[in-house]
Amino acid sequence: ARHFLTGAELSSEELAALIDRALEMKRAPLAARPLEGRAVALVFQKPSTRTRVSFEAGVFELGGHPLVLRTDEMQLSRGESPRDTALVLSRHVAAIGVRTGPDEMLAELAAHASVPVVNMLTAGHHPCQALADLLTLREAFGRLEGLRLAYVGDGNNVARSLAILGALAGVQVVVSSPPGYRLEPVAGAELVEDPAEAVAGANAVYTDVWVSMGDEATADERRSALAPYRIDDALLDRAAPGAIALHCLPAHPGEEISAEVLYGDRQRIWDEAENRRHAQKALLELLVSAS
Ligand code: CP
Repeated sequence: ARHFLTGAELSSEELAALIDRALEMKRAPLAARPLEGRAVALVFQKPSTRTRVSFEAGVFELGGHPLVLRTDEMQLSRGESPRDTALVLSRHVAAIGVRTGPDEMLAELAAHASVPVVNMLTAGHHPCQALADLLTLREAFGRLEGLRLAYVGDGNNVARSLAILGALAGVQVVVSSPPGYRLEPVAGAELVEDPAEAVAGANAVYTDVWVSMGDEATADERRSALAPYRIDDALLDRAAPGAIALHCLPAHPGEEISAEVLYGDRQRIWDEAENRRHAQKALLELLVSAS
C-alpha cells in the first residue's frame, strides 16, 4: 500500500495534481465517493480539534465511515504492538490515519499495514497540515511555483513538513528561528536567524505555537527566545505587498501572532483550517485508488 508519512512519498507532479484535485473537491464536495461503503480508522494518541474534524468530515463526504479510535481505549495502551494493531486494522478498513508522538511508532504501523497509513501528526512531521497550507497558497495566489514562504519561530514538525512539501511544490521556504530552536538543514529550504531578513519578499508569513504540551517547564525561556518572531502588522509590513499570514492553529493571540493579524484581513488562517478537509480528501482518494 502507498503511505503518506513525511510527504516525501509524493512526486512533484503528484503533489501538483493533488492540489488541483483538492480545489475541485472544494468546489464539489460530494462529487467523488471513493470510500463508499468503507471504513477509515483514525487513531489518536494526542488531542486534536482540526485534524479530527477535518478527517472525520472528509471521510464522510467521500462516502466512507470514520472510525475514531483513542489509543487510551485500545489495546495499544496495554502493550499490544503497533505491528499487531496494523495487521488487525488492515482487515477492516480502507486506510489508517495516525496521530502519535514517535515517528518510529508510525513507521512500524506502516511497515505492517496492508492499507495506506497517513501521518496525522508526529513529533517529526505534520505533512497533512503542509498540504492544506499549499492549497491555501494556491487559492490566494493562483500558483505555487516561485512563491516565497517565511516560517518564523520554532523549527518544529510543522516547519519541517513545510520545508519538505514546499520544495516539492516549487515554493521557496525560509525558516527563521533563534539559536536552540533551529530546524536541521532540509534540502531546498533556507535557514536564517533574523525574522526581518526571512520575511523580506515573502508572499506568506507562517507561525506556530511557542509552548506545546510537554514544554511547560521551559515556557518562560521559550517565550523570551521566540518573542522577536511574533507575526504582527509590523512584521507583515516587511514582507511582499499583499503577503498573507498563515498559522496551523491552535493560536495564542499575543504570543506567536497578534490578535489584529489573527482576526484581521491580512490572514488566510481560517481558510487554511478548512482546507485541511479538502486536501486530505484528495490525499485519501489518491492513496486508496493506488492501493
Ligand atoms: N493544526 C492541527 O493539527 O490542529 P489540531 O491539533 O487541532 O488537530
